[in-house]
Amino acid sequence: MHSASNCFVNESASAAPIGVFDSGVGGLSVLRHIRARLPAEHLMYFADSLHAPYGVRPQADIVERARVISRFLLLQGAKAIVVACNTATAAAIKTLRQEFDVPIIGMEPAVKPAAAATRSGVVGVLATTGTLKSAQFAALLENYGRHIRVVTQACVGLVECIERGELQFESTRALVAGYVKPLLASGADTIVLGCTHYPFVKTMIAELAGPEVVLIDTGAAVARHLQYRLQEAGLLNMQHLSGNTRCWTNSPEKEAAQLIHLLFQGSITVEQVDEHRCC
Ligand code: DGL
Repeated sequence: MHSASNCFVNESASAAPIGVFDSGVGGLSVLRHIRARLPAEHLMYFADSLHAPYGVRPQADIVERARVISRFLLLQGAKAIVVACNTATAAAIKTLRQEFDVPIIGMEPAVKPAAAATRSGVVGVLATTGTLKSAQFAALLENYGRHIRVVTQACVGLVECIERGELQFESTRALVAGYVKPLLASGADTIVLGCTHYPFVKTMIAELAGPEVVLIDTGAAVARHLQYRLQEAGLLNMQHLSGNTRCWTNSPEKEAAQLIHLLFQGSITVEQVDEHRCC
């Protein structure tokens, strides 16, 4: 097992960075919440854009990507790992927790808060095919979706639009409209953004859904949970400094760093890496 720390309060361990990853740039929507909530922490982000989208990949492939990236982040000194991806959490979180002895925080579509928020009793979930087909999602519906109607919609192709930076494109709007309209037609008054890429088109979704519809994503909840887990493990960085944010991407596109800066909207150092050089 690869371990960052096995002690309750250890200053050098608590000063270590937090590793975060996603299939690409989507997890930056979570990283933004983590940065806002934990200003003293040093953050490291790995964007696996070369292998995006995960949502259509076999589970074994996603497990292998999650394993390789986690190992890379641990080699850089990560004291905890955040899987900022619903698809990778569903596919790989159990394996990561078995193989790595650091806090590993995952995420799942916000069905529970949506069930509490809906007035019509109908909740729509936008997510990847992988997330919607997973056993974890079935368990989520079993636990929190029994007394409501949950209408799901796999958003095939949307992650690719966001990876290409086509946030305001008419073609992206048309794709999103095709996914949102059936949810509205089913009577959904609450829509869960069940993929970390989708907050980057939240305004577009909100415009299409109208002001009566509540949109819920999980970035802020994940940041809160991370803080709690670090505190519990004695790993919270108590220094009164501003932590730095470092990002690696294996995207071969020349605009990759520019897109990351645009989406993160904060100070971040971006390094474009050759897949074979790191992972
Ligand atoms: N951002 C991811 C998620 O939260 C993965 C999207 C993908 O690569 O298909 O599900």
